[in-house]
Amino acid sequence: MARFSNGSDHVRRRALAVDALTSIDADALQAKAFSRTRRIMAGLDVVDVMAEIARPVPVGVLAEALGLPDVSAEVALVAAAYHPHVTPDADAEAALGRLIAHCGGPTELAAARIGLLVQACDATAGLIGNGLFASLTGKPAEQPVLRTRRRIDGSDVTVPLDGRPFGAGPRECPGSRHAIALAAGVLEALRGFRLTETETTWISSPNLRMPAVLRVTRG
Ligand code: HEM
Repeated sequence: MARFSNGSDHVRRRALAVDALTSIDADALQAKAFSRTRRIMAGLDVVDVMAEIARPVPVGVLAEALGLPDVSAEVALVAAAYHPHVTPDADAEAALGRLIAHCGGPTELAAARIGLLVQACDATAGLIGNGLFASLTGKPAEQPVLRTRRRIDGSDVTVPLDGRPFGAGPRECPGSRHAIALAAGVLEALRGFRLTETETTWISSPNLRMPAVLRVTRG
């Protein structure tokens, strides 16, 4: 995928990802994220937003816009294992195999589409979790991605984002508008809910900052 490629490979693979995003209307993503969230919330009294909404809803909506079935469970497994420094387990490998099959086989275009979903997964969940936490507590919203990892000359390199949540330059996130639209749709649907707990646990990661669990209930 573009993220861990360099030189002309990066340019070509990024262009495939950008092309796929260009055909997706951000306003439609927002509306679908809103209605999907409302549907999930309708049947439940207490919801862990991180597990039930913040990961599956944006990925499910984006997958639909890319012409794929709801592959959010597969994408969550791959997203936990796709960085070059992680050795994927058998579940992640199997999930990747299913994603490749849904995308018609192992091509660069398939990698670009899967890459979009994987890139969207944790980062957009962080945008939603941090946005919701901030709106419910009055605290400032934190940046979900603090540092990014790249692969340069065969080595993993960590690059600080220095306060730019979507990065900058030739690798700047091409999905920022889509991510903000998806998060806006979800957060709009969660208006009127409140936190059930005063203490929040945060995921343990040097690069990401977002709640591990965020339980809400009506009113
Ligand atoms: C719909 C949701 C999203 C999609 C489809 C998406 C897609 C992508 C893609 C394809 C790249 C690789 C670009 C390249 O290698 O040239 C990327 C990079 C990046 N994304 Fe996103 N992204 C999404 C959400 C987010 C969110 C919510 C954040 C953080 C708030 C974020 C932060 C970043 C950053 C910092 C990079 C740069 C990585 C680097 O410089 O190495 N993304 N994104």
